[in-house]
Amino acid sequence: MSSVLIAPSILSADFGQLALDVAAVERAGADWIHIDVMDGRFVPTITLGPRIVEAVRAATSLPVDVHLMILEPERYVADFIRAGADIVTVHAEVSPHLHRTLALIRELGAKAGAVLNPHTSEESVRHVLELLDVVLVMSVNPGFGGQSFLPSVLPKLAALGGILADGGSEALLEIDGGISPRTAAAAAGAGATVLVAGSAVFGANQKGRGATLDERVASYRQAIGSIREAAGRLDVV
Ligand code: DX5
Ligand code: ZN
Repeated sequence: MSSVLIAPSILSADFGQLALDVAAVERAGADWIHIDVMDGRFVPTITLGPRIVEAVRAATSLPVDVHLMILEPERYVADFIRAGADIVTVHAEVSPHLHRTLALIRELGAKAGAVLNPHTSEESVRHVLELLDVVLVMSVNPGFGGQSFLPSVLPKLAALGGILADGGSEALLEIDGGISPRTAAAAAGAGATVLVAGSAVFGANQKGRGATLDERVASYRQAIGSIREAAGRLDVV
């Protein structure tokens, strides 16, 4: 069994019963709750804001991992940390002063992370290593759940592992997009230690809205378990 952390993304949850779904994934063995914040500018979609982070915070004792897919993230990090975010990640592509923004996140009491789009080089974090608790590698183009995993990012994960080790960094390597029992092994094999999974977890609730807490827990336990087990196999796609 591998020691990867599984972070279900609520983007694919049942928003009509969000607290129930969050409680269900917690009981089913999730390690973090991942929240995708999109602004309709940096990415095409508009999703969630600090009020949802507050609602998730109230529904779980797990770490809340807020992935900001927004322009000018430095303007909003305080709001999300006040709302209960434990981890805040910002995209390197929209942070001309990444060093300052990561320092701000830490000053405000949260763990800080940089996110790299599929085309963004691992070199963009080399000089901010001392401020990183997490590096998040996108394995899809951000904006939507349910897309196919891009195996072309795997060499970047491996390269990041080298950069972190060389710099003496203990930052976690997180991967996001298209993670399923079919792709988890390759991601973990390339060095990912935190696996975000949206549709592969919440899509397991076949009964949808009508499912009880116990039914949700059973579906999610199986989905999370399959991803964790696959990650332990460290195959290559
Ligand atoms: C994509 C988001 C992801 C998304 C993952 O822009 O950052 O967190 O929810 O969804 P799946 O696991 O369905 O690819
Ligand atoms: Zn995400």
